Amino acid sequence: MKIVSTASEMHELSRANRAPGCRIGFVPTMGALHDGHLSLVRRARELAKFVVVSIFVNPTQFGPKEDFSKYPRDLQADLKKLSSLDIDCVFAPEPGEIYSQDFRTHVEVEDWGKRLCGSTRPGHFRGVTTVVAKLFNIVTPDVAVFGQKDAQQAFIIRRMVRDLNFDVEIVIAPIVRESDGLAMSSRNRYLSAEERRSATVLFRSLQKAQTLVGEGNVRVSSIVESMREIFDREPSAKIDYIEWVDSTTLEPIDEVEEGSLLAVAAFVGSTRLIDNWIVPAMSRH
Ligand code: PAJ
Repeated sequence: MKIVSTASEMHELSRANRAPGCRIGFVPTMGALHDGHLSLVRRARELAKFVVVSIFVNPTQFGPKEDFSKYPRDLQADLKKLSSLDIDCVFAPEPGEIYSQDFRTHVEVEDWGKRLCGSTRPGHFRGVTTVVAKLFNIVTPDVAVFGQKDAQQAFIIRRMVRDLNFDVEIVIAPIVRESDGLAMSSRNRYLSAEERRSATVLFRSLQKAQTLVGEGNVRVSSIVESMREIFDREPSAKIDYIEWVDSTTLEPIDEVEEGSLLAVAAFVGSTRLIDNWIVPAMSRH
């Protein structure tokens, strides 16, 4: 497992390993790796012969009042976790390697970055698409794996790839959860023991929706109302948004449709958590 910290070395390494029949697989991360991240790495391992994982806490996707400075960073622990997964390269650049002092070019998927999480986190998705575009240019992957955990992010990246003709396949891997249903996240470690117990409310509300859809309910407003009632019983959790959108347009829908995205964001104490459910084909009556 080679550890690379400069863009030029990464470029070279990818160039040297590109060959017919040898796909380059890529998993971009911000580190503080957990089993959710590792599931993406395993998926990439299945899809490609040469696998690169990046670890970079991207400053441009954090708002001024967000947790950039306190975001967990533990490169040694991350490398240890990755070393058992048979990957080829970890790209772990310093911020100065990615953003020069006079950096002034950004990539933005118009409008989509303002919806859902974008309304509470202005500029966040512009930071994400900009860094992912840069990482794609540096790593030059054939296939990149993203988690459904950040469904809006994955859809936005897919759109960027389509709109800008990046020659990379985007694969979206399922959400990995703790045994009580909480979606794994690097931010879960901010939760106190009490908050950690309350944090399952996101998953519980999604389960409620899933049950209601399974029973044949299709009216989004009434399902969302039942989800809100579950939050009402968890005073330490405050809903940021519950939205049900069409996955291809991110536009809100009134009636549940196959493939649509039910996304939830909530503050548990001061920690903002997200979770979602994509309606599968079988759950419609
Ligand atoms: P990060 O939050 O570290 O997540 C890296 C990848 O892991 C993302 O694709 C995310 O969706 C996925 N992931 C996180 N938790 C998961 C879980 N519980 N189950 C499955 N996948 C999970 O997302 C980012 O970093 C950044 O925005 C990045 C794309 C690296 C750009 O900076």
